[in-house]
Amino acid sequence: MNDQENAKKYAGEASVNFIENGMKIGLGSGSTVYWMIRKLGEYVQKGLDITGIPSSHQTEAWAKQFSIPLTDFTQTQKLDIAIDGADEVDRQWNLIKGGGGALVREKVIAAAADRFIVIVDESKMVTNLGTFPLPVEILPFGWEVTSSRIASLSGKPVIRTNPDHDIVVSDNGNFIVDCDFGAIYDPKTLNHQLKQLTGVVDTGLFIQMADDVIVGYPDRTEIQSD
Ligand code: A5P
Repeated sequence: MNDQENAKKYAGEASVNFIENGMKIGLGSGSTVYWMIRKLGEYVQKGLDITGIPSSHQTEAWAKQFSIPLTDFTQTQKLDIAIDGADEVDRQWNLIKGGGGALVREKVIAAAADRFIVIVDESKMVTNLGTFPLPVEILPFGWEVTSSRIASLSGKPVIRTNPDHDIVVSDNGNFIVDCDFGAIYDPKTLNHQLKQLTGVVDTGLFIQMADDVIVGYPDRTEIQSD
């Protein structure tokens, strides 16, 4: 395993220490979350009684693989904790998320949780957001128009495609544009402007939602709490 993967593993596994018996847990998406789910599965095998709501089909498959009991929002509208990765974390703990395409469900889950824990390797910690292109989920109908409107906010939207050049469809049946806005100095305003555009479902900007950030290094973790 390389240094970055080790760092992801440390961060993901450390987050499981925040989980207590009886909790309802929002399960994020991505390769760092994989390590959290795997470790959580071990605790469940030993008797930890929890349920989780997955934020993507991939996470649901991993949760089933590691025998984590699942529930959904028809059963509960409040989560005790949500744990998720991020593509970038700035100094105010604003995030860019959605590299894996699950940003909308991830945001619904984070917003429903009493406590939102972000797990990242050290490479994700940045001074300003924006080196990672911002994912924005948009409706397929009229996506070209929505994309032009985003461009008028000085972003450079690129429709997300797979290696076969087909447009990627999110778990919600929508498209994603990856937008280069350069350095994002005012993420709150940008998020607001984007969300006001008809056709935009949501953005990968998570504004001051995080309560704790667990940063993984190749040989340790650092836990930063609000
Ligand atoms: C998924 O849509 C994303 O928001 C992920 O949380 C983010 O891309 C981080 O993923 P990794 O843990 O794989 O870097």
